[in-house]
Amino acid sequence: MARAGLVAGNWKMHGNLIRNQELLASIVSGTQSLQNVSCAVCVPYPYLAQAQLVLGGTHVEWGGQNVSQHHQGAYTGEISAGMLADFGCRYVIVGHSERRTLYGEGNKVVAEKFCSAQERLLVPILCVGETLAQREANDTEQVIAMQLDAVIDFAGIDAIRQSVIAYEPVWAIGTGKTATPQQAQDVHAFIRNRIASHNDEIAADIQIIYGGSVKADNASELFAMADIDGGLIGGASLVASEFISICFAAQG
Ligand code: 13P
Repeated sequence: MARAGLVAGNWKMHGNLIRNQELLASIVSGTQSLQNVSCAVCVPYPYLAQAQLVLGGTHVEWGGQNVSQHHQGAYTGEISAGMLADFGCRYVIVGHSERRTLYGEGNKVVAEKFCSAQERLLVPILCVGETLAQREANDTEQVIAMQLDAVIDFAGIDAIRQSVIAYEPVWAIGTGKTATPQQAQDVHAFIRNRIASHNDEIAADIQIIYGGSVKADNASELFAMADIDGGLIGGASLVASEFISICFAAQG
């Protein structure tokens, strides 16, 4: 990997105070000697204070899994970027396929959320990815291009510099069906080239991470690919030993 790595856990709607305490403490101690790889966990909102308490002052960072596009107002149930920043978040996931599919978030809202996060100095982890039907119809690149361009057009290419892109093929999420290293690499290279068509330097520097059934036993071969800079980890991020192994796999 030419760039420093990033392994981020996406806990989704899992956890409780007791289990989190153990998991967070194990991640901190287990990744103590990690070099040249950042490690983060994106936890459910109610546990941000716990993450801040346990992870504050350690090398492990934390973030949210979603953010409102608005900064304040009458938006019952929503959480703003400023609120995430209040709890010390560095990252926030935007445009996860579960948000896009289950909660109807389109490219425009995702672009607004991306900007909202950056306005409060959070680093958005922008998720892009095709469904199985789209891949089988050979539409993968077109879908990824639309998801990426929506953000570049709205936020400007310079904003991309302060972000992370996560390629998550929808068919690989939670299915145990990982993209092959070459399949993932092809899409990562496509994303990097598309960014390079605007700005070479940003393309060379940006972390593009892979998500979708990454486990301790397949992480190394994925992370060995030239344009894969780490992973966004769902299920395996809930098991300390798995997540720690994946972090070390990103070290090369
Ligand atoms: P799994 O690792 O459980 O497939 O989830 C991937 C994901 O959606 C991370 O955001």
